[in-house]
Amino acid sequence: MYLSIRGVSLLFDPNPKTRRRDLFDRERELEELEKSLESKIKLTVLLGIRRIGKTSLLNVAVKELGKPCIKIDAGIFKIEGYTMYTLYRVLANGLSRLMGRWRGLREFLSRVKGLRVAGLEVEMSLDEEKPSLIEILGRLDEWASKNKEDVLIAIDEAQNMRFLKGGYGRLDFGELIRYSMENFDNIRFLVTGSEVGVVMDFLGLENPSSPLYGRPSNIITLRRFSEDFSRNFLKEGFKEIGLHPEDRFIDKVVDTLDGVVGWLTLLGYRCYQLRRVDETLLREFVNYAEKLVEGELKKLEALSPRYIEVLKAVANGYTTWSDIKRWIEQREKRLLPSSIVSRVVIKLVKLGYLDKRYTPRPEYMIPDPVIRKVLATKSM
Ligand SMILES: Nc1ncnc2c1ncn2[C@@H]1O[C@H](COP(=O)(O)OP(=O)(O)O)[C@@H](O)[C@H]1O
Ligand SMILES: [Mg+2]
Repeated sequence: MYLSIRGVSLLFDPNPKTRRRDLFDRERELEELEKSLESKIKLTVLLGIRRIGKTSLLNVAVKELGKPCIKIDAGIFKIEGYTMYTLYRVLANGLSRLMGRWRGLREFLSRVKGLRVAGLEVEMSLDEEKPSLIEILGRLDEWASKNKEDVLIAIDEAQNMRFLKGGYGRLDFGELIRYSMENFDNIRFLVTGSEVGVVMDFLGLENPSSPLYGRPSNIITLRRFSEDFSRNFLKEGFKEIGLHPEDRFIDKVVDTLDGVVGWLTLLGYRCYQLRRVDETLLREFVNYAEKLVEGELKKLEALSPRYIEVLKAVANGYTTWSDIKRWIEQREKRLLPSSIVSRVVIKLVKLGYLDKRYTPRPEYMIPDPVIRKVLATKSM
């Protein structure tokens, strides 16, 4: 799955982008992100729904700044389990890579108890002797301070780190960041999250009783492309792959996929694979995208069927809080306490499945067009 010509990746390349020239637009957001990472602010949070371009932006910023960086894709915990074993394995890899580029680090890292440097590889004990994360950060900070650098710890889809939290031998990540922010001048954190409120919760930026509350941080939110931008994105992308769809087709795509760049990219890639653009293909693509989304929604439903009912209410135009409550009550054929409905709605906003808008009265909407359509039309 790679779409490039002579090393330049094209707009419809389905992998996350890594260079500025591969990105369509996002100049303002990129500048904001880079500025934040170069500032004294030690924590930057990049938010946005799935497929909106967070990983791409993170990649580009990290690459352009050229700072020493440990990148952790926290999606790995979903796959391999939320264990400290995985965390240490990922960390060891990240440190090895860092050392490969900044040779002087070796001397600092080899002083960490429980950590051994063999050649350019970091090895770690995993028993009682396992290295302290604070000590690792401390040594990185020392090295950075000596070299007038700062080290960036970039954690993609950080909401997955929350299950590493609490209990014996586990990790309170918010506390770790707080400690680092207070004690180490040369360590910066960048975290992204598509479960928007979950990341905020887990970092505790808005919760007075949590460790990071009130600490200076920058929050950057990635939004959907406007209709015009989506249209231009598609036109440019199609031009790159030598296809020339009619305006009507482009309009239809923008109508259906609504400025979520990841969906636009995947559709373009599909057209590239089949070397054609027509409405049948769009319909088939939407079917395929719906299947993807149905899988995601099934997981949500397993947590609680009410999540799906609330989303269905909104997809069917029941967009205010009292509308939603009424819909659920009719479905369940009983009156429900407000607190139950509130809890579900708030959780869905946190997970990024719902957005709250003021029009000017508060209303809810589903930001992902494919999810919206699945819920409005399918009986899940
Ligand atoms: N600004 C952009 N220009 C071109 N393609 C993009 C842009 N942002 C994202 N993409 C593409 O959209 C898809 C989803 O992007 P990604 O960065 O993985 O999103 P997220 O991390 O938010 O889920 C990828 O195929 C990526 O190549
Ligand atoms: Mg991503």
